[in-house]
Amino acid sequence: MQRTIDWAEGAVVIIDQTALPREFRLLRLETVDELISAIQRLAVRGAPALGAAGALGVALSALRHKGKTGNVLADAERLAHARPTAVNLSWGVRRALAKLPEGPEGVLAEAKAMLDEDERVNRQASGRAAELILERCERRPLRLLTHCNAGRLATVGWGTALGVVWHLHDAGHVEYVFADETRPLLQGARLTAWELAEAGVPYRVLPDSAAASAVARGLVDCVVVGADRIAANGDVANKVGTYGLALAAARHGVPFVVVAPQSTVDPELPAGGGIVIEERADDEVTTVAGTRIAPEGAPAFNPAFDVTPADLIFAVVTENGVFP
Ligand code: MRU
Repeated sequence: MQRTIDWAEGAVVIIDQTALPREFRLLRLETVDELISAIQRLAVRGAPALGAAGALGVALSALRHKGKTGNVLADAERLAHARPTAVNLSWGVRRALAKLPEGPEGVLAEAKAMLDEDERVNRQASGRAAELILERCERRPLRLLTHCNAGRLATVGWGTALGVVWHLHDAGHVEYVFADETRPLLQGARLTAWELAEAGVPYRVLPDSAAASAVARGLVDCVVVGADRIAANGDVANKVGTYGLALAAARHGVPFVVVAPQSTVDPELPAGGGIVIEERADDEVTTVAGTRIAPEGAPAFNPAFDVTPADLIFAVVTENGVFP
């Protein structure tokens, strides 16, 4: 299966997520500038995929600027700050940069190893989460709800929250998945729906604003989401809308499970209040598919993420274990 992000013949190759589901196309990125632009346009997105992008970006730079450490450090700094919320991006940059003393080939080898590792740890984390959900939820088959896209497109391969769906579906335990559409960039409607259809999992796309009532009406056995940064106290930053979903799940006694690789945990950050929330352009809210829907000049509030406090979360699951 085509990886979301990979290395081929001296360049970074990504699935262009701005084109899905209309078109499946690959982009070849040959410079750090092209990669940063792809990250900022969300052509490559999702916390674990951003970790891989950071590492491959350092490899691109190291190969281009052989022996010029200053240039590589400057590129690494720009890459690490291309988007502020997912900690995986700076983690990926740092990890690849640590191999710079071994030369560009050492950096590239580390970045490639990280690609393999990503799929392995996400399979593991999502397998653990699937077991936990089977223990916690009695109803069979399960009715799950997810937000944004935490599938193979948000990782190098496999996925985190959708990885749980793949495990459960393979075992015949999924009745359906509700995929929140995820305003304003519609990662749920465009990407999660595409992945679920590809995998043959029954699903329905719902407006974000319908999720709380779906939970209240008893149509959801478990909510499962990914994460962009997890603070040391277990507070979780994820796509905006996650917090509201967690409140609804808590109110109705539905378990709310977060699945992420350990690289999403930021042990230096004591609590979620310290997480920088990316604010994106107004026109992502005031236009839909290029058509203006709000009056000309209408200002918007467009935070890309929100923070869910740990006490609303049933468990955070990584490849290293289940953290209640
Ligand atoms: O803005 P995006 O699309 O990069 O946001 C992605 C999310 O919020 C995902 O839920 C998160 O990165 C987890 S991906 C396994």
